[in-house]
Amino acid sequence: MNRTFVIIKPDAVERGLLGEILARFERKGLRLTAGELRRIDRALAERHYAEHGAKPFFADLVAFITRSPAFLAVLEGPEDTWKIVRTIMGVTNPAEAAPGTIRGDYGTRTTENLVHGSDGPDSASREIALFFPALS
Ligand code: RTP
Ligand code: MG
Repeated sequence: MNRTFVIIKPDAVERGLLGEILARFERKGLRLTAGELRRIDRALAERHYAEHGAKPFFADLVAFITRSPAFLAVLEGPEDTWKIVRTIMGVTNPAEAAPGTIRGDYGTRTTENLVHGSDGPDSASREIALFFPALS
């Protein structure tokens, strides 16, 4: 089996969409390996999004992801589970995400885009180690 990392972001939890979003992954056939509702602290957020450290939106991104609890999850499926998750999520900007995707159905703004998914196998390994070290 193949694992990837997902964050159901603070906006989704605040809006009561946690169950709905988790259900979409489960109905697709992915299984929850680990999950925890936790407020991400600044240091962890900065490590997680380190690739964006020099971007103009970095401060807003860190402020957003740390503002209230998020649901951190490891999902398991067949090969390339990260890609299945990204397809269900939709593209980064909810204004451009297709209807039927999580971002396409529930979001309007790029910052508050409801969900994070690892963007490849290396990211998945790195992020699982960062958030669930006992699993790696
Ligand atoms: P994520 O990492 O959260 O799953 O999102 P993603 O792969 O679809 O997008 P990525 O390029 O990794 O960007 C990470 C998060 O930064 C915010 N962002 N804002 N204002 C902007 O132009 C901009 N670009 C990206 C988004 O919240 C995105 O999810
Ligand atoms: Mg990303």
